[in-house]
Amino acid sequence: MDLSVIILAAGQGTRMKSKLPKVLHKLAAKPLVQHVIDTSSQLSPVKTHLIYGHGGDQVKQSITGENLAWVLQAEQLGTGHAVQQVLPNLTQEGVSLILYGDVPCVKLETITDLVDMAKGNDIALLSVLTDEPDGYGRIVRSDEGEVEAIVEHKDATEDQLAICEVNTGIMAVKSSRLHEWLPQLSNNNAQREFYLTDLIELARKSQATIGSKIGDDHMEVEGINDRVQLAKMESYYQHRLAMDLLIDGVTLADPNRLDLRGDITVGSDTFIDVNVICEGKVTIGQNCHIGAQVILRDCEIADNVTIKDQTIIEGATIGAHSSVGPFARIRPGAKFDEDVHVGNFVEVKNAHLKSGAKAGHLSYLGDATVGNRVNVGAGTITCNYDGANKHHTEIGDDVFVGSDTQLVAPVSIGKGVTIAAGATITKDVSDGVLVISRVKQKEISSWVRPQKNKG
Ligand code: UD1
Ligand code: CA
Repeated sequence: MDLSVIILAAGQGTRMKSKLPKVLHKLAAKPLVQHVIDTSSQLSPVKTHLIYGHGGDQVKQSITGENLAWVLQAEQLGTGHAVQQVLPNLTQEGVSLILYGDVPCVKLETITDLVDMAKGNDIALLSVLTDEPDGYGRIVRSDEGEVEAIVEHKDATEDQLAICEVNTGIMAVKSSRLHEWLPQLSNNNAQREFYLTDLIELARKSQATIGSKIGDDHMEVEGINDRVQLAKMESYYQHRLAMDLLIDGVTLADPNRLDLRGDITVGSDTFIDVNVICEGKVTIGQNCHIGAQVILRDCEIADNVTIKDQTIIEGATIGAHSSVGPFARIRPGAKFDEDVHVGNFVEVKNAHLKSGAKAGHLSYLGDATVGNRVNVGAGTITCNYDGANKHHTEIGDDVFVGSDTQLVAPVSIGKGVTIAAGATITKDVSDGVLVISRVKQKEISSWVRPQKNKG
């Protein structure tokens, strides 16, 4: 069956008080409307029609998706008018699913159910029950429980205002029926708008079948109009993601103190401490320990890894059984093989640390290859930058780098070398040697320390 997705996103969003179009405001670091596209694209629609009005160019530049069709609604004359703009490009086949660019958290299961329901009916509505129906369209049902109408708040009678079942606006309709009914809408109502909700009346006139689903999670279908609602939605969404991790076998020190902004996968038996932020594409393996205040951005962490408190890892891969931190900064291009240990105040950038390599304290390893089982002493610096260009440092397997060594790149250290502490290495070193570059220690007894002038 052909599925067309129609996303309404033409509203101005004045209550955001922003230069940015509302649907580009971010939830979990992703534009609101991108959430809607990403969820609905899992149903493999033949086309996704995105109805835009304000800030069209900005929206077009920021949003990606397959088979996207951009539909301009120059004037916002109502939700029905918005969907009318799609008709010239809408196939007669199959079902159309109508979603909203400012309702970001709608679940895949919910829209799957609605689309399935529309296959057996002409139209399928999604409603929710609420104690605070103000502002919403009310679902009016017959004594037999059949949907008779949707009445907008401003058009409702006193009795209708007391109804607690409200329209979410989300619906699935046979596309042929949209072609038939949309041109018949009028704006003869309190707001002088073309209401999409009037499709119900037209459906009843054509003796079409109307299905309905009452959702059980009102936050899922809540729209965002201002930044208060956006902040509430962020905590709701974060909580939902945290629950998914718990169900998948991840332990969270506190599900309310974790931020997931992107595409995050975590293996079972991994423990995540408080105030961890994951951004971009982050993969964490099984049985890992992620300490407090750790920031992980676009990185891949294998199984059985320990990331200690306050560590920042970005654009890196960390091999199994490694440990990193506390207070380590692992930057783009860092690649750790298995069983690598990087300790506090170590910065690594664009460097390959091979199996068993260790850098316990206070080092900078940039543009380097560090061989298997190398021990990097405290205070070691790869001097990779000459003021204009970056150069590479190569450290062979089983090298012992003494503390406070500077490796002036480009430079290559042979296998099994021992570098004495305090060395400044400017030339390549052969395999297996001890290399020392410091001045021989001597004592000067005649030395007088400079005195402060007491005048
Ligand atoms: C609509 C429904 C109401 C439902 C409520 C749920 C209608 C007539 N009413 O009311 O039954 O309870 O949503 O939130 O459909 N939009 C456009 N172009 C337009 C008008 C709106 O793209 O010309 C978009 C808006 O950007 C927004 C969405 O459609 O994303 C809903 O519009 P809004 O004006 O907020 O509808 P409501 O009056 O809240
Ligand atoms: Ca609304």
